[in-house]
Amino acid sequence: MDTKEKLSSTTIWLHWIVAILMIFMTAAGIYIDNFEAEMLFDIHTSLGVLILVAVIPRVIWRYKHGWPVAVGNYTRVEHIGGKVVHWTLILATLLMPLSGILMAVAGGHGLHIFELELLAETPDPANPDEALALSPALAEVGSAIHGLFGKVLPIAIVLHIVGALKHHLIDKDETLRRMLGLQPR
Ligand code: HEM
Ligand code: HEM
Repeated sequence: MDTKEKLSSTTIWLHWIVAILMIFMTAAGIYIDNFEAEMLFDIHTSLGVLILVAVIPRVIWRYKHGWPVAVGNYTRVEHIGGKVVHWTLILATLLMPLSGILMAVAGGHGLHIFELELLAETPDPANPDEALALSPALAEVGSAIHGLFGKVLPIAIVLHIVGALKHHLIDKDETLRRMLGLQPR
């Protein structure tokens, strides 16, 4: 169980596994959106599907156990700011993979995890080099969500890291140490 003094190892492991993957996926997404990078694109789409293996238990765990109790008495603004950022991050961990999958499947691009094909691409009979969308409207919904959260997520991640560093370096409290599984000082 998560307590004010100590977080459970499940909370800690799920946080760091998903956090590292999310940072990598966000950086990779921004890169492939701006530059031609076929191999990174393949890694982005494959890892983006695989990440659900950690994301789904993480979201269920959070839903069942609620948010960890804050270690200190913070101002109202800090408290609300922290809540908004945590909600944005947890929603994005779920919505980014799902919207990516929706975009790929509804767009007729199929779905794969590296060499493992989960769903084949549907080629356009008129132009076999292009994919034929199964549902252009759903592909558009997926793309809109992916694009929107793709813009909000990097800002939320930066604010989150600045917040964690502020707690550690300025408030000198246990927030970061507790998420690292260290003993209270
Ligand atoms: C944790 C999961 C994921 C994260 C954090 C993520 C993040 C991002 C970000 C930040 C961008 C740049 C968006 C922009 O600035 O407009 C992007 C682009 C993109 N992502 Fe993902 N992504 C994830 C999963 C996926 C999955 C599962 C797929 C497909 C199977 C996918 C396909 C794409 C594509 C095709 C683009 C190119 C731009 C576009 O059409 O929107 N992503 N991703
Ligand atoms: C270097 C990067 C990161 C650091 C230093 C960091 C640090 C922390 C710390 C210290 C907490 C505890 C806050 C508290 O006790 O109220 C926390 C919680 C949280 N972090 Fe991070 N984090 C990082 C990256 C991320 C990323 C990339 C995500 C998601 C995209 C994320 C999502 C969350 C969420 C949702 C919580 C709320 C508690 C929970 O669900 O376990 N973090 N983080």
